[in-house]
Amino acid sequence: MENNTRSSFTGKIGFVLAAAGSAVGLGNIWRFPYLAAKYGGGIFLLVYLILALTFGFALMTAEIALGRKTGLSAIGAFRSLNKKYSFVGYLAAIVPLVIFPYYSVIGGWVTKYLWAFVSGGTSQAATDAYFGQFITQPVEPVLWFLAFILVTAVVVLLGVEKGIEKVSKIMMPILVVLSIAIAIYSLFMPGAIDGLVYYIKPDFSKFSITTVLAAMGQLFYSMSLAMGIMITYGSYMKKDVNLESSVKQIELFDTGIAFFAGLMIIPSVFVFSGGTPEALGKGPSLMFETLPKVFETMPAGTLIGAAFFILVLFAALTSSISLMETVVSIVCDKFKINRILSCVLVLAVSVLMGIPSALGYGVLDGVKIIGMSFLDFFDFASNSVLMPIVAFLTCVFVGYVIKPKTIIDEVESSATFKRKKLFEVVIKYVAPVCILLILISSVLEALGYLKI
Ligand code: PHE
Repeated sequence: MENNTRSSFTGKIGFVLAAAGSAVGLGNIWRFPYLAAKYGGGIFLLVYLILALTFGFALMTAEIALGRKTGLSAIGAFRSLNKKYSFVGYLAAIVPLVIFPYYSVIGGWVTKYLWAFVSGGTSQAATDAYFGQFITQPVEPVLWFLAFILVTAVVVLLGVEKGIEKVSKIMMPILVVLSIAIAIYSLFMPGAIDGLVYYIKPDFSKFSITTVLAAMGQLFYSMSLAMGIMITYGSYMKKDVNLESSVKQIELFDTGIAFFAGLMIIPSVFVFSGGTPEALGKGPSLMFETLPKVFETMPAGTLIGAAFFILVLFAALTSSISLMETVVSIVCDKFKINRILSCVLVLAVSVLMGIPSALGYGVLDGVKIIGMSFLDFFDFASNSVLMPIVAFLTCVFVGYVIKPKTIIDEVESSATFKRKKLFEVVIKYVAPVCILLILISSVLEALGYLKI
């Protein structure tokens, strides 16, 4: 891990695109819309945007600067600045291990839908029962999960990420254009405007602490924060690249794609299901149940549906590759084993961890952990518990141990730091206090001690 001959990204564009490749994934297209639909539409969007401009900005700046300053990935970066805090690096390293298996289960769902469209099953896929029938099967969800995770593993094993990245750099802009086109199309369907209003106009009566928690967890997840990934990316960033404006661009890219995904999905929920609380609160299945119906009404819908799912699949693959890559390199370093062995080990553990998530809606439907299915539980444990803890500790570390000045100096080594004051106030006071309050209330709620 700690080699001094780290290769670097060639310039700002290279850095921004690579970081965006990890950031843009299922979090934007699948997770953001269903959370926005569930947690009150406009109010969720507003809270999310405020958090992105404050917490997101401060944390991403801190993580990238930590990586660039030390030239190391998470564990090494914390250790080299203060030995007592190496545990934060370890904690951060656990997050991708928890996310990777269930991320691959959703990746499997995307692959299944791609197959449905390619094999001419468009009208079946657009029926109400299709998704439910699929995820309750005893074998099929596991097979698609295995297919997705194996492709990821093969790419990581052969080290052909570069090829995938090249392809995805072409596909990503196409995905953006296609999403905008689908969003515009769906806005013209009768009834869609109510959905647009729900999505854009904040209804303050729907505000609650859970809205903030959900938005915060989503922010960390979507921007690949609080899991050491941006620290690693920062360690590859050249010293003369403008760090602050890179952060701005990554945020813009990531939030833009999430916004359009919401615009594509939420109005369609109103069109096809009338925007009832039940339809909006669907959760993980929302994208899969809604979009095929939109495609079915479109001219050349089968083709567009297939194109859409293949683009989403690539976005998911670049993210799952970066998740697996992170875990593999930590295992290599820690257990002093070679890459191949490490890949095989990580794959085996992830398959074992992923199978309960894949079966959680069917065979294992009766098994619940604190009232949640396996997939929801892993999602909750990483996004609503572990990541806020890591984010809190990162704020404490930067705000009080190494002091914000260390980060500010690193940012200023390349250009003036325009939002220096905002950064300092957020990282020292606002973020740690808010994160702690939200974390405590969410855990109490999940355990049933608090009703919010
Ligand atoms: N940010 C990715 C997404 O939005 C998920 C991810 C998290 C990918 C962490 C890599 C690392 O889908």
